Amino acid sequence: MVNGQWSMMLRPLKVAAGTLLLLCFALQTSAQGLKDVFARDFLMGVSLSGRNVRIDAEQDLIRRHFNSVTCENAMKPASLHPAPDVWRWDEADRIANFCRENGIKMRGHCLVWHNQFSDWMYYDDKGNFVDKETFYARLKDHILTVVNRYKDVVYAWDVVNEAMSDGGENPYRQSKLYQLCGDEFIEKAFLFAREADPKAILFYNDYNETNPRKSRNIYEMVLRMRSEGVPIDGIGMQGHYNIFGPSVKELEDALSLYAPLVEHIHVTELDVRASEEMGGQLNFSKEGISMTDTIQALHAQQYERLFQTFRKFRDKIDCVTFWNLHDGCSWLGEKNHPLLFDKALQPKPAYYRITAEK
Ligand code: G3I
Repeated sequence: MVNGQWSMMLRPLKVAAGTLLLLCFALQTSAQGLKDVFARDFLMGVSLSGRNVRIDAEQDLIRRHFNSVTCENAMKPASLHPAPDVWRWDEADRIANFCRENGIKMRGHCLVWHNQFSDWMYYDDKGNFVDKETFYARLKDHILTVVNRYKDVVYAWDVVNEAMSDGGENPYRQSKLYQLCGDEFIEKAFLFAREADPKAILFYNDYNETNPRKSRNIYEMVLRMRSEGVPIDGIGMQGHYNIFGPSVKELEDALSLYAPLVEHIHVTELDVRASEEMGGQLNFSKEGISMTDTIQALHAQQYERLFQTFRKFRDKIDCVTFWNLHDGCSWLGEKNHPLLFDKALQPKPAYYRITAEK
């Protein structure tokens, strides 16, 4: 038989072998979870509501893919401590117990945030601002109580969330916290958190953290705190991104700025929405858009770029957390298509893209 005939005869075999290889690869990556695929890079995290851990199929998905969990809302001051003597532990306990039972670590989120805060802490009986000392005593009591309750399972805390502004002259957000205390509340919160749990790693956490102006302000604040001995160990880059941005350069610039400054960087709230909106504000549109092949491809490419870049900084980044488990429970609404799993809990092209290139 001549060479050409052999080659014709072998072609179906080659195709079959190729298909088999692809199938093996797909089976291997689908048998493994994200936490296994990225085991040598960073912990893989997810934010959860109490509802997620009540649903069997979602529990399975969490156990398979994630080795770090954040409460989406349940550990925030407004949820836990809505009035001076009122503590609501149910939801946070439910999620913490799920993690304890399954040997999953938790990132605590969050001790101080101008949004979803225990607003009663600001005021006296007549509705006037209390003095700073009274406020700090209340804040300290809150932080010590919360951190102590979960210190067996929480290994890191977002101590202060979103204290920097997105524009304007003053780098600090003009929140009630700032009006009452200036920027001093930030260092106080870190001191209280370290006192409550000397072992937990403590983060400043913010969004639009790849924006050059805001990242410079975050850098300068953290630099100043560290030079003054404030116990801050890490920067949380929220990672509320979209299919167009940030670019690799913008992300690398921010990571290169933060990396020499702190021991730990966590990507704390990753999602990639299929629109031009970005950031952690609530001015997004939940209507979203219809998914097309082009948008699906852009979504997968952006996730691929992000993970390639995160891996370049794997010595510094030790956890990447997705903000919600699947599109059906995303804070952005399912039509923004932000996550790796769809509403039916099925992996999307972005999932295969970031796991395939490993
Ligand atoms: O608890 C009430 C419930 O009683 C009521 O029935 C329901 C009706 O809408 O609202 C519930 O509260 C909602 C809460 O989530 C819990 O589901 C609030 O309206 C809603 O505004 C709140 O949104 C959360 C948002 O933070 C608050 O600003 C999102 O779920 C949460 O994903 C989001 O997370 C933040 C991070 O903590 C910090 N970074 C930005 C990120 C996105 O905004």
